Amino acid sequence: MPNALKIRDNIYWVGALDWEVRDIHCNTVPYGTTYNAYIVMDGEDVLLIDTVHPDFTDEMMSRIQSIVDPSKITDILINHAETDHSGALPSIMKYTPEARVYCSAKSGVKSIVQHYHESDWNFIELNTGDTFKVGKYEFTAQLLPFVHWPESMSVYLASEKILFSNDAFGQHIATSERFDTDGYPLDIVFREAKRYYANIVMAYNPAVANVLPAVGALDIEMICPSHGIIWTEKENIDKIQKMYHEWANQITDGRAAIIYDTMADSTKQMAYAIRDVLEEFGIQHRIYSLHSDSVSEVLTDVMTAEYIFIGSPTFNKTVLPTVGAFLSYIKGFAPKKRKGMAFGTYGWGNISNREIENIMAQLDWDIIPSMSAQYIPTDDQLEDLRNHVRNEINKRYDAQ
Ligand code: FEO
Repeated sequence: MPNALKIRDNIYWVGALDWEVRDIHCNTVPYGTTYNAYIVMDGEDVLLIDTVHPDFTDEMMSRIQSIVDPSKITDILINHAETDHSGALPSIMKYTPEARVYCSAKSGVKSIVQHYHESDWNFIELNTGDTFKVGKYEFTAQLLPFVHWPESMSVYLASEKILFSNDAFGQHIATSERFDTDGYPLDIVFREAKRYYANIVMAYNPAVANVLPAVGALDIEMICPSHGIIWTEKENIDKIQKMYHEWANQITDGRAAIIYDTMADSTKQMAYAIRDVLEEFGIQHRIYSLHSDSVSEVLTDVMTAEYIFIGSPTFNKTVLPTVGAFLSYIKGFAPKKRKGMAFGTYGWGNISNREIENIMAQLDWDIIPSMSAQYIPTDDQLEDLRNHVRNEINKRYDAQ
């Protein structure tokens, strides 16, 4: 039976591993995920921090039962109402119906009631700076509105220098390694942290940027997120916080992304002509075919790309469905401060570029004028495209 894992004296991990999930609300998760829950106990006082996805209730209960009878849980902290963290709450409440249930004062209780339709639970609301005690342990609430939902929050345990951060600083990875020091490849951990931020948090960048300084001011030796690996190494804790600062403040990395789909390889020819110019300039880049790459993988690089080229042929007076889905996705996540260009081919109605540029304009990007070709581009047209992109990049270099 699955057991709890001790992470400090009186502090245990009691979460669950979802090895098989590959999609979480349109976010591709190639490594599965972890639903992290924690127990902190002292004497008669037992706190459960978050729960797990409802499908994994039995696994969490088994881990809890390996260290304490669930009916002895006196306090439950729900940092976030989304079901991957609150989903096992109704089951736990059957064991311990009188437990105090702590939630964010910013709609935390309302969100839980709207999920589980139980308004009689012993709710206690927390604002930033509010404290509560579990035995000798005193926790301080730090609300994290919109990292990921309005009621998202975290708690800091000053005596242990541990931040229970919920979604913040998480990664969708299922692994038997619990800590960043256990040997799981850190390049994958940081890449998955980036994918996680891009596809879950990026839409709320200004709110994240607002709250990060308060988190950065804490003296942290361990970050226990609600997904993925626990951060314990100072170097990693500093690095993930620095990355969050850069992502939330939309700091780009100078790279480029060429994102396209094609019907008969004509738009593809244009994509690779743009590639030629990026190579000339030494601009690091990646080409994505929306026919085969998931939008969440593309968005992970788009989050930090400086140049974004989006191509589609005109198809039934609009863009290809794959490109339409990507435009909808990127519009929602709303990356700002980018240089963007549309390109594509058409048969008799030249419409796709206009639709792509419309989204770029809504995102307030610096728009490089689009280029198109009818049916199959000639060598001269491809060379015109190279010259155009070359000139536009040069203009932007000169302006810097
Ligand atoms: Fe991991 Fe927003 O839930």
